[in-house]
Amino acid sequence: MFPDFVKRGFGWLQETVSGQAQYALLTVLAAGPLPKHVAFVMDGNRRYARRQHQAVSQGHSDGFAALRRVLEICMHLNIHCVSAYAFAIENFKRSPEEVDALMTLAEEKLVEIAQHGELLDEYGVRLNVLGKTELLPSRVQAAIRKAEEMTRHNDRAILNLCMPYASRDEMTSAIQSTVREAIRSESNHVEITEKDLDAHMMTSMVGSPPVDILVRTSGVKRLSDYLVWQCCEDTQIQFSECYWPDFGLWDFLPILLDYQRKVWAAS
Ligand code: FPP
Ligand code: MG
Repeated sequence: MFPDFVKRGFGWLQETVSGQAQYALLTVLAAGPLPKHVAFVMDGNRRYARRQHQAVSQGHSDGFAALRRVLEICMHLNIHCVSAYAFAIENFKRSPEEVDALMTLAEEKLVEIAQHGELLDEYGVRLNVLGKTELLPSRVQAAIRKAEEMTRHNDRAILNLCMPYASRDEMTSAIQSTVREAIRSESNHVEITEKDLDAHMMTSMVGSPPVDILVRTSGVKRLSDYLVWQCCEDTQIQFSECYWPDFGLWDFLPILLDYQRKVWAAS
């Protein structure tokens, strides 16, 4: 009864008894208004690991599995753009062991999900890694270049992995490059507008629309310097109590339904 792409791509749905119900639910949801851009602050990996008496690296690894799962839901719903906060510039202050484990995870997983027949290929997703990538170890930079190159021709959807990222850093770089361009233009009358700055934000340069929904997990209510420019007047900020590795369809569903209710109310 499932179309072919569901059989190949929705393994996790079929593994559960309620797989058919979940698939039907996504199909109903997809008939209503849906966000174009959803951003996630994937918080709570270490508390999740501690709760299960596991190593911190296991929490991050399970966090990556949750990202895959959520991306697959978004792709099935035709949500065009997903952004995820994978590593803040501030996170370099964590222990060398934890930073190294996250770097190894990124190095291994980015190329893996970009491969032929894998998630990004399956759904035609272009991967962009946004942030001060020059701060990353060269082995991770090489993996990023490879994964971005492998998905460069995909044009159905966008995954922005923000690492190592901070909004203030992004805005500073955008102002610097806008001013540099204005100086180079040698025009006598230069006026820098909001539109100019917007065009120089990392997300705009890879074609991302404004953020419709920003989700932060783990019950913490902070923005943590994430996509502050991109969260416009219409952005819905949603806080979920669960730890990121536990986040799934049943946590995402009320958020999407709330979005649909607000869109309908406004129309
Ligand atoms: C926040 O939880 C999570 C992070 C700092 C890392 C997020 C990374 C992943 C989910 C893996 C994704 C992918 C790649 C490509 C590396 P936390 O560590 O702050 O946990 P806590 O809030 O419980 O302390
Ligand atoms: Mg945290």
